[in-house]
Amino acid sequence: EVGCFTVDPGFSATASCASGITFIDGEQGILLYRGYPIEQLAARSNFLEVTYLLWYGKLPNESQLQQFTHEVVHHTMINESLRLFYQGFHHDAHPMAVLVGVVGSLSAFYHDYLDIHDQKSREMAALRLVAKMPTIAAAAYKYTMGQPQIYPKNSLSYAGNFLHMMFAMPTQPYEVDPVAERALDLLLVLHADHEQNASTSTVRLAGSSGANPFACVAAGIAALWGPAHGGANEAVIRMLQEIGDAKNIPKYIARAKDKKDPFRLMGFGHRVYKNFDPRATIIRETCYQVLEKLADSRDPLFELALRLEEIALKDEYFIERKLYPNVDFYSGIIYRALNIPMSMFTAMFAIARTAGWMAHWMEMMADPELRIGRPRQLYTGPVMRDYVPLEERK
Ligand code: SDX
Repeated sequence: EVGCFTVDPGFSATASCASGITFIDGEQGILLYRGYPIEQLAARSNFLEVTYLLWYGKLPNESQLQQFTHEVVHHTMINESLRLFYQGFHHDAHPMAVLVGVVGSLSAFYHDYLDIHDQKSREMAALRLVAKMPTIAAAAYKYTMGQPQIYPKNSLSYAGNFLHMMFAMPTQPYEVDPVAERALDLLLVLHADHEQNASTSTVRLAGSSGANPFACVAAGIAALWGPAHGGANEAVIRMLQEIGDAKNIPKYIARAKDKKDPFRLMGFGHRVYKNFDPRATIIRETCYQVLEKLADSRDPLFELALRLEEIALKDEYFIERKLYPNVDFYSGIIYRALNIPMSMFTAMFAIARTAGWMAHWMEMMADPELRIGRPRQLYTGPVMRDYVPLEERK
């Protein structure tokens, strides 16, 4: 039974929480969304169906899925005044910085419709966030490119709409490539939720104070940005570009093992998985298909990543510490094949994880016994002492 556990009776600090949304067995490399194996959802479901599953705890029937999709599709536009918000950013602002700011500003748009103690009102806020994230993220990209922001198109799928808003231009027709659409939807499914990771815990902690859900998600986006978390997908590609050639791999493996060197093998290791991250395995296999169909079957960085994994997994240091590729190790290869720029990789993660953040926020806010999160500390500072007047200090 998953439940709150205390770090130490003396401190009675709850270090985790109970949730029925996602189950991870780190030793076995098992990941379930509401009991369904990620492998089956990756092969047979889609992002909006998985979002519905994460939120409501069951797979939707046909009319429920149609209704949910209709609701999401009809909330993809952002208020026109929000488009002015982008003008305040420098043209080379990192899309994650834009996302933190713009998503946080949504708190100023919906406060009068929002009663966080009302389930329908909570669901509406969650739905608006999932619906608008692709529009907000694509607009951030267009802004940095100096191109006009593209409005969402209700006739397109969730993933297709994002690709359309990213790459369409007013000057010529744009066709969504079905291979790219399917690959992107798969990545969204794989990134949708992952139990109490740093950014989800951030959203929960912020939400436990009764804060506005848009502000909570802005906090989650900020936490996700770090290279130790969602920012790793961008850091992996930078690392592979720096390694450049397979002959340099031993040098970087040595650096990753050197405690004096801050370098870590990006995309490797995990707080929970001490076996293969099942998402990494699915993404690696998907790379072959996507490269075959979208990128004339080659990406030197993919071949380098495969070689790096092969060498690292034979190295005592990685074997002893059970360090395996995680979800971020190969995802950038697919984003590259979709022509999504590296600066947008973590924004892609944020789009997907909004589904999980909202599932956790709604689960938590529905708890009538909800109390504010308040982790305690192990105090290591000085014992009590008296103030020393300035003239008596050495
Ligand atoms: C995500 O929590 C989630 O669920 C996150 C996530 C999600 O879906 O939300 O799965 C997404 O954030 C995946 C992780 C992406 N981050 C990276 O790929 C960055 C590189 N990875 C490392 O920074 C690290 O593995 C972490 C941050 C992921 C985990 O750090 P920990 O908890 O310190 O790792 P650990 O306790 O398992 O480390 C054990 C040992 C330590 O060395 P020793 O002190 O035992 O000698 O392994 C070492 C670590 O220093 N180690 C690494 C390493 N990762 C851990 N050494 C070299 N390279 C690495 N990548």
